[in-house]
Amino acid sequence: MKILGISGSLRKGSYNTATLRAAQELLPQGVTLEIFDLAPLPLYSEDIDPFPPEVKAFRERIAQSDALLIATPEYNHSIPGVLKNALDWASCAPEPPCANKPVAILGASIGRFGTLRAQLHLREICAALDMLVLPKPELFISYARTKFDAQGRLTDAETRERLREFLEAFLAWVRRLSLA
Ligand SMILES: Cc1cc2nc3c(=O)[nH]c(=O)nc-3n(C[C@H](O)[C@H](O)[C@H](O)COP(=O)(O)O)c2cc1C
Repeated sequence: MKILGISGSLRKGSYNTATLRAAQELLPQGVTLEIFDLAPLPLYSEDIDPFPPEVKAFRERIAQSDALLIATPEYNHSIPGVLKNALDWASCAPEPPCANKPVAILGASIGRFGTLRAQLHLREICAALDMLVLPKPELFISYARTKFDAQGRLTDAETRERLREFLEAFLAWVRRLSLA
């Protein structure tokens, strides 16, 4: 199984990118998780036609993956513009690669709500793209500064266990949809 990981943060020390790295450690053998860097994507405009090479590459990577794992920060009670921009590129015709793609959403923030509001918005956006969002469990990593070490390793044992359970449910979701 091939999963494409998308972090909504471009920050070097991002807790969300670090969460995707932790997921790479916790996934079972036979499942790969590659993290796509959104930084090269240009800002979306309908005037840009054809798709620039960076956009083509992004859309191809989505098309070639079995599922997406999106780790989003919360910016001003929603998702970062960087992530929305990327999803707008992915949503465009022809053959939008996100349609019918299983996706799981999680997020880490330094505050107490752990990206709750951003994740709710992201669920709505994924629905607009015809993506199949893992309903449950949800994973909100709050007070991220206390859960990762200085090297960006997820060190909090309880959060690691919750992430492991989350991934297990996600893989079952992807398998269930591929049988449907
Ligand atoms: C512009 C901006 C807005 C933010 N708004 C929120 C917010 O609404 N809720 C929240 O919990 N954290 C908010 N934060 C703090 C982020 O949770 C924190 O910066 C987090 O570490 C970002 O994710 P990252 O570590 O993956 O870069 C905001 C940060 C920035 C830069």
